Amino acid sequence: MAMGRIFGLFLPSLSTTFVLLFPLTFSASDSDALLKLKKSLNNAGALDSWVPGSAPCNGPKGPWRGLVCQGGVVTGLSLDGMGLSGTIDVEALVQIQGLRTFSVENNSFANTIPGFNRLGALKVLSLSRNWFSGEIPSDYFAKMGSLKKVRLSYNKFTGKIPDSLAHLSNIVGLHLQRNQFSGRIPSFDCPNLNSLNVSNNRLEGEIPSSLSKFPASSFAGNPGLCGKQVGVQCSSTLNKTSTNIISAMVALGVIILLSVIVFFAIRWRKKKQTVSDVPASGSSNDAVEVPVSMLPKEEGSIKSAGLDSNVSSPGKASVAELVMVDDEKGVFGMPDLMKGSAEALGNGPLGSSYYVRMANGVEVVAKSIKQMNALGRDAFDAEVKKLGKLQHPNVLTPFAYHYRKEEKLFVYEYLPRGSLLHYLHGDGGKYGCDLELLTRVKIVRGIADGLEYLHNEFASRDVPHGNLKLSNVLLGPDNRPLLSDYGYHPLLNVDSLDRLFAYKTPEAIQKQAVSFKTDVYCLGIIILEMITTEHPSQHVNDGNGGSDIVQWVASAFSEGIQTELLDTNIKGCRNSVRCMEKLLHVGALCTKTSPEERLDIKEAIRLIDEIMIELKQYGII
Ligand SMILES: *[C@@H]1O[C@H](CO)[C@@H](O)[C@H](O)[C@H]1NC(C)=O
Ligand SMILES: *[C@@H]1O[C@H](CO)[C@@H](O)[C@H](O)[C@H]1NC(C)=O
Repeated sequence: MAMGRIFGLFLPSLSTTFVLLFPLTFSASDSDALLKLKKSLNNAGALDSWVPGSAPCNGPKGPWRGLVCQGGVVTGLSLDGMGLSGTIDVEALVQIQGLRTFSVENNSFANTIPGFNRLGALKVLSLSRNWFSGEIPSDYFAKMGSLKKVRLSYNKFTGKIPDSLAHLSNIVGLHLQRNQFSGRIPSFDCPNLNSLNVSNNRLEGEIPSSLSKFPASSFAGNPGLCGKQVGVQCSSTLNKTSTNIISAMVALGVIILLSVIVFFAIRWRKKKQTVSDVPASGSSNDAVEVPVSMLPKEEGSIKSAGLDSNVSSPGKASVAELVMVDDEKGVFGMPDLMKGSAEALGNGPLGSSYYVRMANGVEVVAKSIKQMNALGRDAFDAEVKKLGKLQHPNVLTPFAYHYRKEEKLFVYEYLPRGSLLHYLHGDGGKYGCDLELLTRVKIVRGIADGLEYLHNEFASRDVPHGNLKLSNVLLGPDNRPLLSDYGYHPLLNVDSLDRLFAYKTPEAIQKQAVSFKTDVYCLGIIILEMITTEHPSQHVNDGNGGSDIVQWVASAFSEGIQTELLDTNIKGCRNSVRCMEKLLHVGALCTKTSPEERLDIKEAIRLIDEIMIELKQYGII
């Protein structure tokens, strides 16, 4: 070490040959910086070769994993697909003076973009396929004039495309697709740019003429864009009205819903009909254009609800149909939906949700989901009908669906209390003893029950729920939790599977493998959130920060300080710290990195029941 430091002092004046003879002298500070970086990363098992006392570029088994070395100097970090998370220590990166390329694609980093712009000499910055979110300051890239490639695709960035990106004179490739960038595309003056992708964002307005050489697929999936590449003429009204993509989506949603609802009201008033009464086929590509009046509303017949499109003739406008899969609560039809008042509820990774109140007072939620063409129409119908047959107090069964090639619509009961996410975090955690321990244990138990039911019903699937997270658990009366958004795994296009929460688990990130235990992991995260009221990093997409809750809890247990994590808001309520700790422990056992070490759902339920029994002994039940 001392040698390294001494040599280090002289290095600037040493010749290249001399440096090559003594690579260790150079790497001593790189080594320190890399170890510091490693410390800031969670789940860094892939970096086992990064150990003190070995030279990063000349370790006993070659360079440390993920390093790019030139002449014994670290010039690049390529840490793709290693399941890493945490907050990258930029200070450490700054200390790696030769660093020119930095890539952490396909990991689990979340939160807003770290200060990589302190690395002024960087040529490549690759952050694709993570969970970065929030806005990037407009001048973020202003002092990064060496950048040649910037890849930010498949994240959750919001706000405008930073203006400074459009003025990088050396940039060759820029990948921003599949984020939530909004606003207009800045006008680029980058003579060397030869690969650009801004598709699947929320951009709007005219495509700048400087980008006219790029193909349509570089811009696709931005409904608000206009220009010849996307085949939409830029009229002045369009530019003006498209300032708010949400309003555009609401408008679209309402129209689609209109086409969807016909079926509903009829159904609501109707007595129970069997699923087999509903003709399943007949697709429509014209839902948006079909007037409401096309649907004959024949009282008392479920068959009347617009399913004439059974005879589907391509090219001919057919009626957009709503296929009922569960008419337990009545029968609805398109006209009912169409005449209802609709409101956008928000966008999730899979699509948008709308609230609709129909004239007869019935309230539903319609979710539009794209990228759902893994199955042909018949197989799709069969799968969704299986969802409609589910009957469990903790499982929200869809009422109906609407099928179009580009987009599917699922209609669910509206539960005014919203999701558990909203309940737990919505009002800044001011729930007091309404959410005392017993309530939480019961909610967790209900979720686990629902999950076990799905595991039994869908025993032959890869991952029966596949999308279990707080925002997909709705609260019914008496705090009864209801699972929603389950069972989409077989339906989604393969390249969209990573939108499911199951794909945030270690096995999915590392091996693209999901299983029943993946659902258990997701349950575990919910338990940890319920008992600590922390946001896990996986949920953070609003730029408000968050921590990797799994890592955090695991290390608290290993240090014996787990009681410090318990939600203090309920410590004054009917409570047992011991039981809280036990529940936290169940969460930890459900979130073991290795699926084999994880509990299965039955064991989890058994442990939760033990906690219930203990609460009873304390007189809390
Ligand atoms: C842009 O990205 C999309 C994915 O969002 C992809 O389908 C398309 O082929 C890409 N186009 C170009 C030109 O890279
Ligand atoms: C992401 O990384 C995993 C390994 O962790 C790999 O199997 C998978 O193919 C990667 N995905 C992409 C899109 O690169």
